Amino acid sequence: MKKYRIAAIPGDGIGPECMKATQMVLKALLKDKNYTLEFQEYYAGDEYKIKTGTALPKETIQGVKEADATLFVAVGNTAKEVIIPLRQMFNCYANLRPAKAYPGVKAFKPDLDIMIVRENTECLYKMVGYQGLDWGVNLRIITKEASERIAKYAFEWSKKNNRKKVTAVHKANVLDFTDNIFLEATRKIASEYPEIKYDEVIVDACAMKLILSPENFDVIVTTNMFGDILSDEVAGLVGGLGMAPSGNIGDKIAIFEPVHGSAPDIAGKNIANPTATILSAIMMLEWLGEKESATQLDKAVMMVLKEGTNITPDLGGKASTNEMALEIIKKL
Ligand code: NAI
Ligand code: MG
Repeated sequence: MKKYRIAAIPGDGIGPECMKATQMVLKALLKDKNYTLEFQEYYAGDEYKIKTGTALPKETIQGVKEADATLFVAVGNTAKEVIIPLRQMFNCYANLRPAKAYPGVKAFKPDLDIMIVRENTECLYKMVGYQGLDWGVNLRIITKEASERIAKYAFEWSKKNNRKKVTAVHKANVLDFTDNIFLEATRKIASEYPEIKYDEVIVDACAMKLILSPENFDVIVTTNMFGDILSDEVAGLVGGLGMAPSGNIGDKIAIFEPVHGSAPDIAGKNIANPTATILSAIMMLEWLGEKESATQLDKAVMMVLKEGTNITPDLGGKASTNEMALEIIKKL
């Protein structure tokens, strides 16, 4: 039987609760399949740092390296010591962040289906800068190489998924040193895909247009920080962070994670919405090539959301994290 090795990193706060619920669902999904997922759990995050002095131990890095894929939930304040270094050290250059409205979920825009393709290795997240006593500088680094690579990824993904338009989001009118490099790259790649429409929107106007007329967007390709901010915005349009999954994808290594953080305000109460982590696991199954399982699980999640009886409080329900997971298992 085929076996995929999955590195599981629950992290802090609601991380362990969401990870447990997701693994329960995956276990049920795999019952009659001709492959298995072998989970190996690894430490990372705030709590681990308090105990040991480091937020991202060597064993975890090695675990991600050796695994066929990684499922990560969230860490707390050590995010910049954990997930950002992992994305950069394994060159997971494409951060795929879908915002899709599911039937039954109270969404501001009910038919929305936007994919944000965020550059994941540079920009302000390079964490290069310097500091004086009462001033600081963070450098925004944009290269032609990474810009062309992410544009290529966005157009290839659009082609494969039958998407019609790619919008490059930038701030070249002010940040001209960097964003003209980004736009030159996206224009060059766009010219290689004449069958896909291409346009450009300035990031602040984009933030507004996503609220007023999100139906005009299909696939967005953008630099690291703009993608980070806009993906939380579109998550808000489709039911909140409990509904937003993502994939950090490189040529060989991929790390799947919900967009949300460790949510300390609701941690330990068994009320976190596990959907974002489960949808991230669905993206992982697709990436592993297990498309049929991915579709099956997606349908089960959709049924539970549509029914609306066993959903967590953030979605307007009363169910616990576990109860929602059990309901998804029933639908499988
Ligand atoms: P957050 O995403 O943890 O929470 C924002 C709000 O959304 C909170 O009210 C929370 O209760 C709610 N929420 C998030 N996920 C939810 C879920 N699954 N179900 C129901 N409600 C949910 O963002 P916040 O509060 O800005 O950050 C908290 C901590 O998480 C910080 O220490 C931050 O550094 C860290 N963080 C880590 C990330 C990562 O590991 N990739 C990403 C974002 C934040
Ligand atoms: Mg974010």
